[in-house]
Amino acid sequence: MMIFDILTLFPEMFQSPLDSSLLKKAREKGLIQVNLHNIRDYARGKHRVTDDYPYGGGAGMVMKVEPVAEALDALLHEGVRAHVVLLTPQGEPFSQKLAGELVGHSRLVLICGHYEGVDERVREYLIDREVSIGDYVLMGGELPAMVIVDAVSRLVPGVLGNMASTSSESHTEDLLECPQYTRPSEYRGWKVPEVLLTGNHRNIEDWRRRESLRRTLNKRPDLLKRAALSEEDLKIMEALKKEG
Ligand code: ADE
Repeated sequence: MMIFDILTLFPEMFQSPLDSSLLKKAREKGLIQVNLHNIRDYARGKHRVTDDYPYGGGAGMVMKVEPVAEALDALLHEGVRAHVVLLTPQGEPFSQKLAGELVGHSRLVLICGHYEGVDERVREYLIDREVSIGDYVLMGGELPAMVIVDAVSRLVPGVLGNMASTSSESHTEDLLECPQYTRPSEYRGWKVPEVLLTGNHRNIEDWRRRESLRRTLNKRPDLLKRAALSEEDLKIMEALKKEG
C-alpha cells in the first residue's frame, strides 16, 4: 500500500480525479491511499491566514511557513517516515524515471505551493525535494501533485491489473510507442497496415520496432541520445533517415 498525503489550500480540486477510473479502483482495492489535508486548518487566528506580504516589499503574496510546518508536524508525529516533496516551477523536472524513484517510498507527502511563492524556509528546513512538472507556470501545485499521484500510482503493483505491462511503454525505454489499431480493419477507406492482420508475430514485432524508431526520430529526436539501441536498431535508423 502506497500512501500519499497532500497538503493543499484547495482539497476539493482533487475530488473528481481521485473518484474516477483507475485511481478510484486502486483506492478501493487498498493499493493506494490518498489523504487530503487543508493547510488552512493549521493556520492560526480567527482568519486562518496562510499568506502574507513579502519581506523587502514587492508584488504578490508569499505562502507562510508556520501552517505548512504545523501540518507536517501533525502528519509526521511519532516517527512516521515519509518523503516530502514540494511542487513548484523551480523544482527538478518530473519524468518517468523520477516516478519510478518515488514509488520506492511507502509514503509521499506532496505540498502544493501557491501564491507568488513559498517562504524559503519551507524549502530549506521542511522538504526532501522540490519537483516541477514542466517549464510553465500553473496557478498552484494542485494539478502537479495530481500528476505525480497518477504517474506514481500506476507503477504500484496491481494498479494496472493485467493491462499492458509498464515496462514496454512510451518513455520507459526512451522510445515512443508504435502506432496502434483496433477493429474495423477498414473505415471510410482508411486501412490498418497489412502486416498487423497477418498473424506473423516475427514480422509484426519487426514492424513495431521500426515504427517506434521512426516516430521517435520524427517527433522526439532528443530521446534517441539516451535510448538503448541495438546494432539492428541503428541499421534501421540509417535506412529511415535515407527514406527521409
Ligand atoms: N506550481 C506552479 N507551476 C508548477 C509547475 N510547473 N510544476 C510544479 N508546481 C507548480
